[in-house]
Amino acid sequence: MQVCILMGSPRLNGNTAELVKPFIDELEMNNVQVVYITLADKNIFFCRGCYACQNMTGEYGCQQNDDMQEIVSQIVHSDCFVLATPIYSWYCPAEMKAMLDRFFGMNKFYGRGKGSLWEGKKCAIIATHGYDAKYGAEPFETGIKRLCEHSNLDYAGMYSVRDEDDKASFQTVEAINGAKMFARVLLTK
Ligand SMILES: Cc1cc2nc3c(=O)[nH]c(=O)nc-3n(C[C@H](O)[C@H](O)[C@H](O)COP(=O)(O)O)c2cc1C
Repeated sequence: MQVCILMGSPRLNGNTAELVKPFIDELEMNNVQVVYITLADKNIFFCRGCYACQNMTGEYGCQQNDDMQEIVSQIVHSDCFVLATPIYSWYCPAEMKAMLDRFFGMNKFYGRGKGSLWEGKKCAIIATHGYDAKYGAEPFETGIKRLCEHSNLDYAGMYSVRDEDDKASFQTVEAINGAKMFARVLLTK
C-alpha cells in the first residue's frame, strides 16, 4: 500500500508537520510506503479555468507545466492521499487551494474526455487549527467531503487537533496516540 501525504503548511516544521510525524511512523511500522510532499516548496500555478484538461482521456491533460504533473503522478500511484493542512481563513493555505483547483483534470466531466484518474482512492484529512474543531475545521472538511462525493473518492475521515500552545499542543500523548490511531483506522477502512 502507498499513502501520499500532501502537506499544505508554509511552515515545513510547524504544527501540522509535528502532528503528521507519529502518523507517518505508524504507517511505516505497518509496512506502508509513504510519499511526503511539501506543497510550499513546489511550483503550483493557479488553475486558469481553460477546460483543456477536460478534452483529454487517460491523462491529466493540464496545459500548464509545473510540479502538479509530479503530484498527480504520485497520487495516481497511491492507494490513499492525505491532505495535511493548517486551517487558514476557514479553509487551507493558498498552495493547497491551488492544488485542489488543479485537481479539476483528475475527473473528465465537462468535455470530450472520459473516465477518471483517481476514482475509488481513499482521501483523508489531518488538520490543525486555532479555533475548536467544529468551528475551525468543519468548513474545510465539508468542502473535501463534497470533492470526494463529486469525484467518486472514498472519504476516510479527518483527524484534527487544536493549536492551543503552538508545537507543544501536538506533542502530547493524546495528540500522538490520536495520530497513530488514525493511521491504523486508515489501514483497516
Ligand atoms: C494566516 C493564518 C490564518 C489562520 N486562519 C485560521 C482559521 O481560519 N481558523 C482557525 O481555526 N485557525 C486559523 N489559523 C491558525 C492555524 O490554523 C494554526 O495555528 C495551525 O496550527 C498552524 O499550523 P502550521 O504551524 O502547520 O502552519 C490561522 C493561522 C494563520 C497564520
